[in-house]
Amino acid sequence: MDTPTEKIVSDNQKTWNLVCDLFADASALPDWGPFGIGADLDLIPEIKGKTFLEIGCGSGRSIKYLMQEDAERVYGLDLSPKQIEEASRYNRQEIEDGKVVLIQSQMENKIDIEPVDFVISVYAIGWTVAPEKVFSNIYSYLKPGGVFIWSWDHSIFTDIEYKDGGYYIEHSYHEEKPVTLIDWKKRGTTAHITYRKTSTWFRLLRDAGFNIIGYHEPAPKNLNRGHDDPEKYYSIQKAKKMPCSFIFVCQK
Ligand SMILES: C[S@@+](CC[C@H](N)C(=O)[O-])C[C@H]1O[C@@H](n2cnc3c(N)ncnc32)[C@H](O)[C@@H]1O
Repeated sequence: MDTPTEKIVSDNQKTWNLVCDLFADASALPDWGPFGIGADLDLIPEIKGKTFLEIGCGSGRSIKYLMQEDAERVYGLDLSPKQIEEASRYNRQEIEDGKVVLIQSQMENKIDIEPVDFVISVYAIGWTVAPEKVFSNIYSYLKPGGVFIWSWDHSIFTDIEYKDGGYYIEHSYHEEKPVTLIDWKKRGTTAHITYRKTSTWFRLLRDAGFNIIGYHEPAPKNLNRGHDDPEKYYSIQKAKKMPCSFIFVCQK
């Protein structure tokens, strides 16, 4: 039987509260994912004086980067109170100065903020239980002409696993079933993710009204966090053979 969406969200919230320390210094802007990808693409044409919302802001490292580059204001949204706590600690001065506003909420729920120039998201959107709602919300948060840039695990990367010295297609690319990760990261907690096909992401974005102006599948730039063990999910060996991440650039 399928897990009800409220249970998925509540399990994922508990999970992120328990694993957030493991991700505190994971990929954040100017990178858009593991292995230093995306920084060289200069996807945000101008940060100075612009307003941003980050979906799934996690530990707030990307927010700090945007502030250091003179963004006018940055809103950060995340499901996990623990992540919001860490993002608040990391951006305390900017919050006191009214430049950073953090909101603990699930991305599927609409929040009330001023229209922004950019919505960004680094490795968070794929956690959603309702992408239609999320993209419709994001569209509504943007100013006319505003840009939404987001990254996530490449759809093919998740289907291929290392076994006996080689890479094998372990899951059917065509199946978009939710995956339940029991005892994820060995923290005794359950996480749920639905991996979606690339064509599904294109369709969902277009249905929400976005004009897709860029789609990137970057090759790895560097080895990060000791991911040189081929058995690891994010292994450099695997990332050299197939795209680990995709990045969409969409305009309202
Ligand atoms: C891989 S982390 C990325 C964090 C951050 N962007 C970074 O690069 O450090 C994914 C984040 O998505 C958040 N998240 C998961 N499901 C969510 C949901 N339904 N609504 C809002 N945030 C969610 C998690 O709490 C977590 O902080």
